[in-house]
Amino acid sequence: DLKIAIIGAGSSYTPELIDGLIARSSQLPITEVRLVDIDEGWHKAEIILSLTRRMFEHAGLPVKVILTQDRKEALTDVDFVCSQFRVGCLDARIRDERISLKYGMLGQETNGLGGFAKAQRSIPATLDICRDIEKYSPNAWLLNFTNPSGMVTEAVLRHTKVKTVGLCNVPVLMQKGMAQVLNAEEQDVFVQVAGLNHFIFARQVNYQGEDKMDYALEEFLNDNQAFNPKNIPSLKWPRKLLANRHQIPCPYLRYYFSSDDTYQKSVHEAETEGTRGEVVKALEEKLFEIYSNPDLYVKPKELEGRGGQYYSDAACDLMSAIYNDKRTLMHVNTRNNGTIAGLPDDCAVEVTSVITKSGPMPLNVAPFDPDTLAMLQLMKTFERFTIDAAVNGDYQSALRALTLNPLVKNGKVLEAALDETIRENIQYMPQF
Ligand code: NAD
Ligand code: G6P
Ligand code: MN
Ligand code: MN
Repeated sequence: DLKIAIIGAGSSYTPELIDGLIARSSQLPITEVRLVDIDEGWHKAEIILSLTRRMFEHAGLPVKVILTQDRKEALTDVDFVCSQFRVGCLDARIRDERISLKYGMLGQETNGLGGFAKAQRSIPATLDICRDIEKYSPNAWLLNFTNPSGMVTEAVLRHTKVKTVGLCNVPVLMQKGMAQVLNAEEQDVFVQVAGLNHFIFARQVNYQGEDKMDYALEEFLNDNQAFNPKNIPSLKWPRKLLANRHQIPCPYLRYYFSSDDTYQKSVHEAETEGTRGEVVKALEEKLFEIYSNPDLYVKPKELEGRGGQYYSDAACDLMSAIYNDKRTLMHVNTRNNGTIAGLPDDCAVEVTSVITKSGPMPLNVAPFDPDTLAMLQLMKTFERFTIDAAVNGDYQSALRALTLNPLVKNGKVLEAALDETIRENIQYMPQF
């Protein structure tokens, strides 16, 4: 029997996760689901608790579901821990977006100053949870979605004994997009990705024994919407730069390859419909109204408005692949160990891997072109200083991280924006 804990259960994505568990009930004999949240999200978590019970009951599955704030109760003797929390909730996200915009920078959840700030909130909370996993379920797997997923995963890999895998829906969307443009079944298309979370490239696209990279790249550069998460503006790609490069950038790379356009778009959106965080806040309110309906037993269609759609497919597939030692291929964040030449062995990379009972075994990655490798090294160095600031509260590490980030201004503007970020978040950043 399997017991799982969900940290940040008040997330509006939770019904998708439960839906995924129900769909895989023959592969995953789950007996207990322990939902964990805190005061701030308690109201949402209670709505999720009843909906989760209704969903299992409706599916005819006798699963015990509890909701608790007590991590010892939640984490004792579990097999999997799904982490999907947001320290400071959406108000913290909106504050990040607005602070960046105020200083003339892109306001985005996982990129630039916003991504740095989110790491400063998420990493200390995650390490604290890991101390409890080490104590109460030393054999459990931590499946991490908490953003920034790559940096959170690396912090766990380097600073705890917890077995962990980091996940993101972006490679899932890319895989689905490739299948769509090739008119193929998803499982028949072989896609290999490599890079860092929200900074990956597809390196191989094969179908029926043929290399389809050039065709897929063309479709991609023609802005085929099949690839794009809801939260990223679908602007034109700089075609001359990216054509014929035999690698397909993930949608987040628009922020780096078209930084002026994406910045201007984010300013415009903030002034009209609101920042993405503000838009999501309204959507979330609507979703929880729907979730409260006692006649609802399945995840509602409106959830598709969130950028993280299909994330639960990844979580449930991963759980099943580990539990059943399936050796299927998935795109995951795991320890580099030489997989991407030129990045440190002990860093987290997002790479296509064979999933076994002992965890992910990454596929070998062909060397990157020197310019792409230089970008990956720059971003990894940003990530490592960011993690150092999150773990040790080192202010200079914070400045060194952000000075490297191409989406962040430097000098006096940076100092003022960083100071405001720390001041506004001090209750969520105990390290400073
Ligand atoms: P949300 O704002 O609904 O937060 C989920 C819950 O976390 C809230 O109910 C909140 O009370 C709770 N929480 C906050 N601090 C906590 C703590 N210390 N312990 C336990 N619970 C805590 O967030 P959301 O929009 O559903 O997203 C949740 C997280 O998942 C975010 O970090 C988001 O960035 C991430 N996410 C990642 C991916 C991915 O591709 N990796 C996809 C979607 C969402
Ligand atoms: C996906 C990403 C997630 C991100 C989410 C934002 O693109 O992979 O990591 O957090 O969407 O979606 P939202 O609906 O919250 O803006
Ligand atoms: Mn992601
Ligand atoms: Mn910079």
